[in-house]
Amino acid sequence: MAELVSLEEAKKQHEYIGLARALVEGKGLKAFVYTLGCQQNEADSERILGTLSQMGYIPTENEEEASVLIVNTCAIREHAERRALSIIGRFKHYKAKNPDIIIGVCGCMSAQEHRREQLKHSYHYVDFTFGTGALHRLPEFVYNALMKGKRHFDTDAEKPPIAEGIPALRSSTYRAWVSIMYGCNNFCTYCIVPYVRGRERSRNMGDILNEVKDLAARGYKDITLLGQNVNSYGKDLEGKPTIADLLNEISKIEGDFTLHLMTSHPKDASEDMLVAMSRDERTRGHFHLPLQSGSNDVLKRMNRHYDIERYLSIIESLRSKNPDVVLTTDIIVGFPGESDEDFEKTLEIMKKVRFDIVYSFIYSPRKGTPAYSMEQLPEEIKHQRYDRFCQVQNQITLEKNQALVGKSVRVLVDGKSKGDENTYTSRTDGGKIVHFKSDIDYTGKFINVKITRAETFNLYGEI
Ligand code: 5AD
Ligand code: SF4
Repeated sequence: MAELVSLEEAKKQHEYIGLARALVEGKGLKAFVYTLGCQQNEADSERILGTLSQMGYIPTENEEEASVLIVNTCAIREHAERRALSIIGRFKHYKAKNPDIIIGVCGCMSAQEHRREQLKHSYHYVDFTFGTGALHRLPEFVYNALMKGKRHFDTDAEKPPIAEGIPALRSSTYRAWVSIMYGCNNFCTYCIVPYVRGRERSRNMGDILNEVKDLAARGYKDITLLGQNVNSYGKDLEGKPTIADLLNEISKIEGDFTLHLMTSHPKDASEDMLVAMSRDERTRGHFHLPLQSGSNDVLKRMNRHYDIERYLSIIESLRSKNPDVVLTTDIIVGFPGESDEDFEKTLEIMKKVRFDIVYSFIYSPRKGTPAYSMEQLPEEIKHQRYDRFCQVQNQITLEKNQALVGKSVRVLVDGKSKGDENTYTSRTDGGKIVHFKSDIDYTGKFINVKITRAETFNLYGEI
């Protein structure tokens, strides 16, 4: 049974909120949060801003005017860590100008011991760090910094408790994230996530349903259920509800929204879940299923626990229920020991499945993971393969986009395109970007657009 934050701890944090508010409120002090990485981090940042607002801070998008600066970091690839360190570095001069400024670092990067040590010793102006499992203790960390207490570098529990009731200050009024579980038990050999987000913990179904009901009632149009492996939802809960049970319950909630699952794992994608998904118009349009590699040998060394045959059977089952489903995937190029032949197999699967969008990544060694100590491929080979990979996928994406020309698609409008007064940008259910001209602002609404022109990364259409 997933443990909730104890009543005593929640009360303590509530007291810190009150104490901080007495010092902060009415002074016009502002809070800025910089978010890197995945949607889980976006969701966490919304709760961070919600908490800081409760403490009396005013959210700002201008870091220069902030009294509290939080960097919510990512550790999935080296590039993300480098960016986080450069942003934290940039904040140094704010503190030099005003020593009262509070700087905190949270998220996956700061949950690694070597990074914590680095932040402690080389970034003297950082007041505190905490991992994703300690977000509910933010009031304590900020209050302590306000009182000029000792710097704090929090170490995460392996199975931190689930915190309900932290208000999210949502950045959008029509797209929303709902975490349904935290952590990961899978230990794919390339991945840092299980080390920085701890073991799997599922939220109670009632709490999730209440959140979705509330979002639907408030007119949210696009809701994403978040978890590292949403297919294993509920395994740790009493009565062991499944993701299919959750989807069936959500399907009873009224509302004009689309629902996404992010992310699924092929080893756990049950037929029950696929059936539940395809029953509801709102969930059947899009499925994201990370493939990672097209070679069974590589999948084995990645510790993925499925083979290509299993992967293809899921796709086949899904397409038999809904031939128009938009399929997206994640693929890693250049995993240690990936041979030319392995790589060719990945290209083969891509040509066979013809994904709509592929999120592709060059393998990045992560300290502390098993693949870190495997023999690495030369950078040059990784980049050569990546270029080839992009050529193949871009062609497929372009062809799939071209097939949409002349057709009408439903999109959710995101606002004006940059630089053009009357052009708006929007996204289809599967995340394809569609631009169109309009005299009326339909931001946050679904509209139908007839596609008139297709490029690889952009579609153009008219209402
Ligand atoms: N290097 C490159 N890509 C990675 N991913 C996870 N870890 C790594 C890594 N070390 C990719 C996987 C995952 C996505 C979120 O990021 O494809 O599905
Ligand atoms: Fe990482 Fe694998 Fe867990 Fe996804 S399922 S978060 S890739 S360990």
